[in-house]
Amino acid sequence: MNVLVVGAGGREHALCWAISKSPKCGKLYCAPGNAGIAVVADLIDIDVEDVPALVAFACDNQIDLVVVGPEAPLVLGLVNDLAAAGIKAFGPTREAAILEGSKAFMKDFFAKYDIPTADYGRFTEHADAVAYVEEKGAPIVVKASGLAAGKGVILCKTEDQAIEALDQIMVDRIFGHAGDEVVIEEFLDGEEASFFALVDGKTALPLASAQDHKAAYDGDAGPNTGGMGAYSPAPVVTDALAREIMETIIQPTLQGMAAEGRPYTGVLYAGLMITEEGPKTLEFNVRFGDPECQVLMARWDSDVLAALDAAAGGQLADIRLSWKEDTAMVVVMAANGYPGPHVNGTEIKRLDEANQVDDVTVLHSGTTTDGHRILAAGGRVLGVTALGESISAAQTRAYEAVDIVDWPDGFCRRDIGWRAINRAD
Ligand code: AMP
Ligand code: GLY
Repeated sequence: MNVLVVGAGGREHALCWAISKSPKCGKLYCAPGNAGIAVVADLIDIDVEDVPALVAFACDNQIDLVVVGPEAPLVLGLVNDLAAAGIKAFGPTREAAILEGSKAFMKDFFAKYDIPTADYGRFTEHADAVAYVEEKGAPIVVKASGLAAGKGVILCKTEDQAIEALDQIMVDRIFGHAGDEVVIEEFLDGEEASFFALVDGKTALPLASAQDHKAAYDGDAGPNTGGMGAYSPAPVVTDALAREIMETIIQPTLQGMAAEGRPYTGVLYAGLMITEEGPKTLEFNVRFGDPECQVLMARWDSDVLAALDAAAGGQLADIRLSWKEDTAMVVVMAANGYPGPHVNGTEIKRLDEANQVDDVTVLHSGTTTDGHRILAAGGRVLGVTALGESISAAQTRAYEAVDIVDWPDGFCRRDIGWRAINRAD
């Protein structure tokens, strides 16, 4: 099979790495990719949002399957346009991608199909939103409804903070049209986990559990990021809890989306809060998590390409997934300053040596080349991914490799996996 992966991050490097190992894989392309992906796939210089150019490339190059990494092209309808051109794609259609594209749609969907989530209200009028905050009190969570590059969620400890957030989103318009509508939610207390299932419209297969660290600094302090590290399995998600999540969250979503005339295919990523009352859904994403994808691909033992192809083709019922017993961990190395302003173009050295640590693969999230030199090109730059027989062993290996990487302009958290390690002790 000839495969085109769309995206340029660590998630897409992990996907290309896993797909390239499949005996079914013929030519492998990635658009636009990065310096690490170039080792396993041919890079195609097309932006992820340039839907017509991606469709044209797939048609001209006998692509059998397009695997879409990020949400933006899904929301733009890349999968619809590929289908119209007769090309199979892994990922939801525009109609199904609304689950991530609109928090307002998602919350109403949860209510209609009785999927556990935080209580909420949705508002287009500033005065009504303020009145709701005054009625409910703090702590409370304010969210811009549209896509706001992961920054549209504001956790407010006081009513004043919530009202300030509403002023910024609805009056000052700091997120533009993403703030045309806001969702205001009950604050949920508990431990977060990421739950992924492959879905083909009818059948859902759970993937191994994973957990990421969203905060920038050690101790889960500092600003929220896309994710500074992750591990799999996540001990908080026991087998019994995974069954409960499939029954109360994933299956009703699959059935609900079909009933809405928006059948879902691809990977469904539920961001969960494991509360004392059970798992509650914080959000759905219509793609793999980044960096959770890196640890899932590291542990995935059966043929990844066969599974993604079956999801795209409605044949998941025939697939059995298997996972390595080992624990996987990824430590993200980011440019100094991330998630705030940071410089691009700084040189990274000794990546080959880091890659030689046993059971370590250095995945690239944001890199480019200048001749033989590897340069940083983005906020999150590397994902040092390790396997180990325990979470502590995986952590030791990952940091051994991190310490070999010579990149004074980058930083990482030193405590990835601390929750799971505390549980294991
Ligand atoms: P979201 O983009 O909706 O997943 O929100 C980003 C992050 O904000 C989540 O990963 C949680 O850490 C936090 N968060 C979102 N909603 C809530 C909530 N209702 N209660 C507590 N924390 C939340
Ligand atoms: N790691 C969180 C995300 O991909 O959204």
